[in-house]
Amino acid sequence: MTVDVGIRSARKARMLPLRHLPGLVRDPLEAFEEMGREADGEIVRVNLGPFRPHLITHPEHLQYVLRDNVDNYRREGMMWKPLGRLVGDTSDLGASWNIRRRVYQELLSAPSTALMADEMITTIAEAVDDLGEHAAGGRPVDAYEGMTRIVYRTIIRVLLGDRIPLENIDGLGRAMVTATTSSFRARMLMPFVPFAVPLPGDRTFVRSVKAVDDLIFPIVHEARAQEDKGARDVVSMLMRARGEDGGSLDDQAVRDGITGLFVAATDTTVSVLTFLWGALDAYPDVRSRLYEEIDRVVGAGPVAFDHVQKLTYTKMVLQEALRLYSVAWITPRVVRDDDVIDGVRLKAGSTIAVSPFLTHRLPDVWPEPHVFAPERFAADRSRHRFAFMAFGGGPHQCAGRVFFFIEAPLILATLLSKFRPALQTSPSIKPRVDLTLKPRDRVAITLEPVVR
Ligand code: HEM
Repeated sequence: MTVDVGIRSARKARMLPLRHLPGLVRDPLEAFEEMGREADGEIVRVNLGPFRPHLITHPEHLQYVLRDNVDNYRREGMMWKPLGRLVGDTSDLGASWNIRRRVYQELLSAPSTALMADEMITTIAEAVDDLGEHAAGGRPVDAYEGMTRIVYRTIIRVLLGDRIPLENIDGLGRAMVTATTSSFRARMLMPFVPFAVPLPGDRTFVRSVKAVDDLIFPIVHEARAQEDKGARDVVSMLMRARGEDGGSLDDQAVRDGITGLFVAATDTTVSVLTFLWGALDAYPDVRSRLYEEIDRVVGAGPVAFDHVQKLTYTKMVLQEALRLYSVAWITPRVVRDDDVIDGVRLKAGSTIAVSPFLTHRLPDVWPEPHVFAPERFAADRSRHRFAFMAFGGGPHQCAGRVFFFIEAPLILATLLSKFRPALQTSPSIKPRVDLTLKPRDRVAITLEPVVR
């Protein structure tokens, strides 16, 4: 397929049948998947009554929007508007966002992440031991909570310089999850409703943002009062960072930068690691191969940084989990100037629903898309650069990709070198749509110690 941007022959996008918002707000994912099937890679318009975003799923179209013509497609509206109430400016236009982005890129670069690896390994080992204690004697543990504790402790230790005391971690987790659930879905599907008009869940949202503020602002104030010792955690780096005009970030912008990184780094990783237990339960061959690799490379441990590059099948399993459960399920954009993609007219101000979740389910791009098959990511398989969209694409793609592919294999290697997790609830873990995809129901696992 080629992207034809000729303006003369442009036509309107095909409109899909009307979907009623109340039903969609209750359970959007099934309807959304059906829309993806109806679109089949074509640019279509979704009819949500007053809100009619364009759905873009084909890799060629994604490349055009996210990379080749990126300046014309802004991170505004739909998801970004409600997210902005939690993490501040995300519009990629503001000076403060540009400072933030540079800090994220430097902090999460490959050399910087490698320097954090030893601390990551120690923290993960401690957190996995704690989880093992909770699961002692075959007691089932909540997988989402378990993964949250491991990921939060890791992120707080290595990216936040351990500035959040252990006893506040659960409170922060609860506040973050409530903020990105409560009214988030309704606000995303009805971006035309002004914040002044309350929607169900709004009060809970505001309370949870206040709880986040109460935990993050003291960290900012404390760091401000301390002497800058050149530390390489996100708080110190945001404090030191300067814009092109020499300007620095005020307390609110530093708070936003910390919160934004925390949201990006935690929720996504926790969700995909939870979904994974369902896939491993349903695909015993994949599970055996994964165990075999970890036994061969790590054995009884301890896990070391140089194991990560040898865990090639583990990485493929994670990539496939990210394909099938694209936790960052939507990354919408707003059209700046009128444009035409593949003969379809896009008016300035229109919303473009870019959805990795749907792209990963296009049968022409990913044959048998519902099958969990890590071999798709074998080194000798090629694909369109914009076919695997879990981390986005173009200049805005996830700044934490390298970090994720060190952190997540370390977590799996540590856990699986000590335990054999067994799912105690249904293997078909149904996703729930909020800012990210999360399991809809409780996922319980037991951890049987590995006997060597
Ligand atoms: C399951 C793992 C993850 C997924 C699926 C994921 C997905 C994404 C996606 C899709 C975007 C781009 C949004 C857009 O197109 O505008 C993004 C941005 C970002 N992610 Fe991730 N992410 C993951 C893990 C992480 C981790 C572990 C970190 C940090 C340690 C991180 C930090 C960031 C940051 C800072 C951005 C903003 C980049 C920018 O706009 O310049 N992410 N992520």
